[in-house]
Amino acid sequence: MKTLIKNATIVTSTAEYTGNLLIADGKIQAISKDASYDADETIDAEGKWLMPGAIDPHVHLEMPFMGTYSSDDYASGTLAALHGGTTTVIDFILQTQGDTLANALKSWRSRSDDRCYCDYSFHMAVTDFNDNVAEEVKHFIENEGITSFKTFMAYKGALMLDDGQMTALMKVVSKNGGMVTVHATNGDVIDNLIAKHKSEGKLAPLYHYLSQPEVTEAEASSRFCDLAHYADVPAYIVHMTCEGAVEAIRKSYHRNQIVQGETCIQYLSLDASLYEKNFEGAKWVMSPPLREKKDQEYLWSAINQGIINVVATDHCPFTWEKKLLGKDDFSKIPNGHPAIEHRVELLYSEGVAKGKISKQKMVEVLSTNPARIFGLAPQKGDIAIGADADLVIFNPNKKHTLSAKTHHMNVDYSCYEGWEVTGKCETVFLRGKKVIDKGEALIKPGFGEYQKRSKVSWKRS
Ligand code: URP
Ligand code: ZN
Ligand code: ZN
Repeated sequence: MKTLIKNATIVTSTAEYTGNLLIADGKIQAISKDASYDADETIDAEGKWLMPGAIDPHVHLEMPFMGTYSSDDYASGTLAALHGGTTTVIDFILQTQGDTLANALKSWRSRSDDRCYCDYSFHMAVTDFNDNVAEEVKHFIENEGITSFKTFMAYKGALMLDDGQMTALMKVVSKNGGMVTVHATNGDVIDNLIAKHKSEGKLAPLYHYLSQPEVTEAEASSRFCDLAHYADVPAYIVHMTCEGAVEAIRKSYHRNQIVQGETCIQYLSLDASLYEKNFEGAKWVMSPPLREKKDQEYLWSAINQGIINVVATDHCPFTWEKKLLGKDDFSKIPNGHPAIEHRVELLYSEGVAKGKISKQKMVEVLSTNPARIFGLAPQKGDIAIGADADLVIFNPNKKHTLSAKTHHMNVDYSCYEGWEVTGKCETVFLRGKKVIDKGEALIKPGFGEYQKRSKVSWKRS
């Protein structure tokens, strides 16, 4: 089956030109500014953009967390991802403290295999480091294609590693060609503030925000960079929200350390005033919390400066019924918000259409950088001959309204209800197959393939 997409404005992280692209056997077989090709199907994409399928390297599907599970399973979450132009996701496996990484992998693959619509891969969250885990880390990098190891500096008692375990893990990962990623917030300080607010009877969602001030993120980000420098490990900080935290990365540049930074679409588009809506603010209870408008401006600028390299979602939805678990106590509200479907369109609408970033930068932080950083390149993340034909036909002029009534995520509210966005992912290809067209899914669960990832390519030595 050959498909020709003609007259498209081809947008990559480095270029933009009008051209024709031929898909054959799931790959991009030819690209030309003027030559045409014989094909079984021809799509005229005049006036539309053709972009690489987006990669979301931070999602939590059907994740056991805070006494419940995130509400999108591997089918609903990956289908919603495709509707929004995301063709590959990287989810997180969580080691149970006291148990092995192998058991965690088995448990996660039993929920995900044969269910995904889009391609998928996993980071491994190490929550309990010891000699046996060190051996497993080597095995995961060499044999499972899992090359990124997530750590938590918060969520004590369930997920948090102490600094000794963190450093020991970093050294093993470094030696074996992987990277360490981190949720960088100071768990002890946060737990202390939560206890203080609760003892004062301050129980509304607003106090979730007030229990995680900027310093908790800035301090942990800086400490993580220092430990990663000491261990000489490739480092990546997830869901960065504010100046204090991102400055830790800037500081690491002065000693020629490479730390990659990620923010998420919500931190660029929403702010902490939402926590003043009494309990409705629970919809936006996530960690770290939303910050101030000044932080949004700072993050846009850090993207342009190349300090923030990836815009992800940290998609972790909970239905309203589950959010109500924290009706009388903000610390029991499951942390997380739904966004897997909206990242591409929001980044275009809030970023490119409003003149904050270029379209090349958008492709870079949505596709090309996640593929490069996480070992999915060269088969994913770019429009290039021989790459997987993961492609999005994007209409930059189409306006539409985001709503729980029309989204595909398995959650009964939208954190962007009523937002009018400019730009729509109209047709999506995954490995050459047209998978979404005009709002319809053309595949079944299980079409998504598990992706083994390569070792880190961006370590200095
Ligand atoms: O609130 C969040 N971010 N929930 C998901 C878990 C995490 O910390 O990433
Ligand atoms: Zn986190
Ligand atoms: Zn997360």
